[in-house]
Amino acid sequence: MNICNTCDRKMVEAAIAMREKLPEQEQHEAQRVSNECSPALSSLSCVSHTPSSQELTLETQWNVGIGGGIWTTGLLLCEYFGRNATFFSKVLYGKRIIEIGSGTGLVALSLATNALFKPQEIVVTDQKDHLDLIERNICANIAKMKAPIRVQEFNWLKDKETKNTDSKVKALCALPFDVVVGTDVAYCQELYGPVVHALCRLSGPHSLILLGVTRTDTNPRFFQLLQEEGFDYCLTPVADGESSCTVAGGFALLSVVRRVGS
Ligand SMILES: C[S@@+](CC[C@H](N)C(=O)[O-])C[C@H]1O[C@@H](n2cnc3c(N)ncnc32)[C@H](O)[C@@H]1O
Repeated sequence: MNICNTCDRKMVEAAIAMREKLPEQEQHEAQRVSNECSPALSSLSCVSHTPSSQELTLETQWNVGIGGGIWTTGLLLCEYFGRNATFFSKVLYGKRIIEIGSGTGLVALSLATNALFKPQEIVVTDQKDHLDLIERNICANIAKMKAPIRVQEFNWLKDKETKNTDSKVKALCALPFDVVVGTDVAYCQELYGPVVHALCRLSGPHSLILLGVTRTDTNPRFFQLLQEEGFDYCLTPVADGESSCTVAGGFALLSVVRRVGS
């Protein structure tokens, strides 16, 4: 499967145009407003474009850390899965999925609760201090779960610094995941290397990686690192006027695959 071929060129151009539209100040403002508008307990219809959609109950808890709120590209990715549910019902069927830097668990939950997607398992990961929040959000939506889901600590920074020696992480990375998702994970330069390292650890030649990026946080160095480590990427169409998510310029979804032979 070459996911890049499935991207509609016009939509990709529109996504690029959207990224260019807002000056940096306004992009920060859009993210800030989006963060501040997240109530402590939200009901979200993340996959509103499919009859199989489920409304999620999500607790947000900013004092947990940066992932305690809902970030725009997480919403965009849920929206993208919902909008392309027929396509993803084929892509995700029987597959092993991992989410990195999950925060509230939003993206993993939107996948786990969609009856059309029948993955083999979904592993939700983050730093240790975020795991309780994710567990609580899984519990809050347990009745809607359609796929096996489990939570595990995976700290990319620690993994890179300790040279991949933690036995639990080793087990996690033993077999490449078919699909890796991560939204707003490359949000500061010190994390670019560890995020790319994590992608190398978790993916194989046939894996599909879907990332959400905020332009003001993810600068060209991240994309350079992706290429240096043997990944190819393309922009994925995000949303249009009918979107149920608030889409401001400066946010994008990327499809990332390993370059053939790398
Ligand atoms: C900006 S938040 C995005 C959260 C979520 N993906 C979303 O879109 O709402 C970044 C996430 O990356 C996680 N993170 C930061 N540094 C990390 C590290 N070294 N290892 C694992 N996760 C990390 C944070 O805990 C947080 O959940």
